[in-house]
Amino acid sequence: MTVTIGINGLGRIGRSLTRIVAAAPNPGVEIVAVNDLASTEKLAYGLRRDSIRGAFPGTVSSRGDQLVVNDRTIRAFHHERPERIPWAEEGVDVVIEATGRFRAGTAARSHITHGGARKVVISASADDPDAFLVYGANHLSYDPDLHDVVSPASCGVNALTVMAKVLLDRFGLSSVNTSVMLAAQGWQRVQDSLVGNSREDPRLGRAVGESIVPHNYVVGDLVRVALPEIGEMRYSYYCVPTPVGSLAELSGQTRRPVTIEEVNRAMAEAAAGPLRGVLAYDPDPTVSIDVKNNSASCLFDPSGTQTTASGGVKVRGWFDNEWGFSNRLLDLARLVGERLPVPSSRMNWSVVEDLVSNQ
Ligand SMILES: NC(=O)c1ccc[n+]([C@@H]2O[C@H](COP(=O)([O-])OP(=O)(O)OC[C@H]3O[C@@H](n4cnc5c(N)ncnc54)[C@H](OP(=O)(O)O)[C@@H]3O)[C@@H](O)[C@H]2O)c1
Repeated sequence: MTVTIGINGLGRIGRSLTRIVAAAPNPGVEIVAVNDLASTEKLAYGLRRDSIRGAFPGTVSSRGDQLVVNDRTIRAFHHERPERIPWAEEGVDVVIEATGRFRAGTAARSHITHGGARKVVISASADDPDAFLVYGANHLSYDPDLHDVVSPASCGVNALTVMAKVLLDRFGLSSVNTSVMLAAQGWQRVQDSLVGNSREDPRLGRAVGESIVPHNYVVGDLVRVALPEIGEMRYSYYCVPTPVGSLAELSGQTRRPVTIEEVNRAMAEAAAGPLRGVLAYDPDPTVSIDVKNNSASCLFDPSGTQTTASGGVKVRGWFDNEWGFSNRLLDLARLVGERLPVPSSRMNWSVVEDLVSNQ
């Protein structure tokens, strides 16, 4: 079946989603509508040209309020408030909320209550979603009766969680310490600035290309939401000036001392088996740009593994913060869309209208 998708916010994540779906031979989802403040013409341009990904591998144009991507049309809306977007007009089942502005579950829920969509996936570590579902760790806890607004947490949380999951399942894991180095984000500034995010922490407004900037993002709590057995965690988060390509490191204590070979074999086996698609394994010496366009949540780097005689372990994984995470958003959209009782695309609207008018 095909899940119909609407995307709110056609920025880095929204455009990655569009490219991934357009390039997949059988994506299982169809983007039928998008909403962004830019004109439809500019949205088409933003898809055609990309400084990180290169030219669009296909054709993109605009026709009135439609984007034409290869031979598919996508309705383009331009509403600032989510409650104004008439998703139901286009038969949208699942909205991916990717503006970065409506991260609160209550705001995102208006895509359902006002827009007529059926489920929402928030493209960020949302404030109060019905569930955090990290693919490969706890996504099977999705309950269609309880969860209307879900979040995959963040790209860094996904990278850390899949590595933690393997260690936890194979060797036990406690006293976890993590660091994430996240590539440059659109909200950062080219020159020092005191507006936007910098109001919470002035360091976040510092020039993006000049510094490694510490960020007080509470990544550990979300890893624990997906893997509660892990216990207390410490964490650090830094914004680094790479255009794309990020790093996650995790250290902790295993139940018994393990060797580097045991850890790397466990990761390789998980990448080829139960975590195929979300964990990848690359023995080649890797730097951050090598992860560009990798669709996994984490590209495990065996050269980063260290162990101690007392059961200490440290591991390293790379992630494409846009591409890997966008693939997880689509995985989640498929998961929630395929469990709808009757998808909008198959709903007989004339019957529904008759039922409503006869009430
Ligand atoms: N980029 C990453 O590496 C990454 C990774 C994981 C998660 N995320 C999360 O994903 C979300 C989106 O990030 P992003 O990097 O894609 O941001 P982005 O590039 O800034 O994209 C956001 C898009 O939404 C548009 N927008 C803003 N307000 C809007 C509104 N009220 N209605 C409709 N469209 C609106 C923006 O337009 P303007 O540019 O005109 O404001 C922009 O086109 C954020 O929550 C972020 O934390 C990002």
